[in-house]
Amino acid sequence: MNNFIWYNPTRIIFGKDAHKSVGEEVVKYSKNILLHYGGKSIRAAGTYEAVTKSLTEAGVRYTELGGVKPNPRLSLVYQGIGLCRKEKIDFILAVGGGSVIDSAKAIAVGACYEGDVWDFYEKGIRPEKALKTGVVLTIPAAGSESSDGSVITKEDTQDKCSCCTEWMYPQFAILNPELCYTLPEHQIRAGGADILSHIMERYFVPNKNTDLSDRLCEGAMRALMENLPRVLRERENYDAWAEVMWTGNVAHNGLLGKGREEDWASHGIEHELSGIYDIAHGAGLAIVFPAWMKYVYRKHPERFVQFAERVFGIRGEEKDTDEVCLTAIGALEIFFHEIGLSTRLRDVGIGRENFDVMAEKACRNGKLGSFMSLTKEDVREIYEIAW
Ligand code: NZQ
Ligand code: ZN
Repeated sequence: MNNFIWYNPTRIIFGKDAHKSVGEEVVKYSKNILLHYGGKSIRAAGTYEAVTKSLTEAGVRYTELGGVKPNPRLSLVYQGIGLCRKEKIDFILAVGGGSVIDSAKAIAVGACYEGDVWDFYEKGIRPEKALKTGVVLTIPAAGSESSDGSVITKEDTQDKCSCCTEWMYPQFAILNPELCYTLPEHQIRAGGADILSHIMERYFVPNKNTDLSDRLCEGAMRALMENLPRVLRERENYDAWAEVMWTGNVAHNGLLGKGREEDWASHGIEHELSGIYDIAHGAGLAIVFPAWMKYVYRKHPERFVQFAERVFGIRGEEKDTDEVCLTAIGALEIFFHEIGLSTRLRDVGIGRENFDVMAEKACRNGKLGSFMSLTKEDVREIYEIAW
């Protein structure tokens, strides 16, 4: 097991009606905040009314900035920074999913920086300060509610870049599974694929002697694979949503990757897809991950054999190792198909025209991944397999 430090400061407040007392949490930090959200969905389940009522009762003044689009855009981040400065705001409440939270985090670091916030995403400059943030989560998917990262798209260049810093951990995240009841089917599917991918990015690593985190990852994958089909069948099944929402948080709060290297190549490869084609991030991952697996499994086949046995119950004895690995990858693809996701670029209308440029951009900061270190030529091959 590798040496590690683990610290996740985000307080998780989980359960029925939890968002109705968000004002009591916010007021611990500020009485003058930015309320940040996306499109119409915040109104769907009365979430907007409940949140604003609670803020008002707690004596919190809020300035609103809605309009965050999935794959959040830099232009709105600039607007948010301007608003925070003008209104002397020192806290941002994000009500939504990964896109709203990531936009809030970008505003939070940008408002405390004299230069261009994009420097943090493109040039790798480290933020040294940020406004504090809090979250009411409305979709289990990205795990941004207690992660240290934010992913933003710059519209004119279609660059989708990330920034990770401990300044981006939200102070608290409220997770009420009831808020998921209004989610459209395609967002549930994409969110599920993203959650599974966050676990797999940590599971498929070259390290040995990681028994506990292996078992945690395998348990989390099983919990997700069992409960995601349940919420697709029964949209108001609280217990199944609670499992999905909690798994989504644990998948990306840092715990599952401790003592091991983590990979993240598939995410890097996918971000170029959603940057250019505006596909939902999780839907892109359902296509990229199996292709990545087919390209790299021979590097450490024993990990795929373990995945086959423990996650899918595929018995490896007396079988050829290649066959076991490919059967497991096939089983993952079947899972994606069963929940209604495609595993080929051509099936979602994406052509081969940008493979070179996407491979180049994916490797803008060097090679990708730890399971196998990928050059831009490798990444291009993976897009070909995914096509
Ligand atoms: O725009 P509105 O109307 O709000 O609708 C949203 C949006 O269209 C809708 N939605 C959310 N909650 C809902 C709902 N609709 C009905 N009922 C509800 N309760 O869902 C749509 C998608 O929302 P979005 O926030 O984009 O989804 P997600 O949470 O999947 O976030 C994806 C973004 O997060 C980034 C991705 O790259 C992508 O940009 N990621 C961020 C990470 C991080 N910061 O740690 C890690 C991830 O790997 C990921 O890269
Ligand atoms: Zn993701």
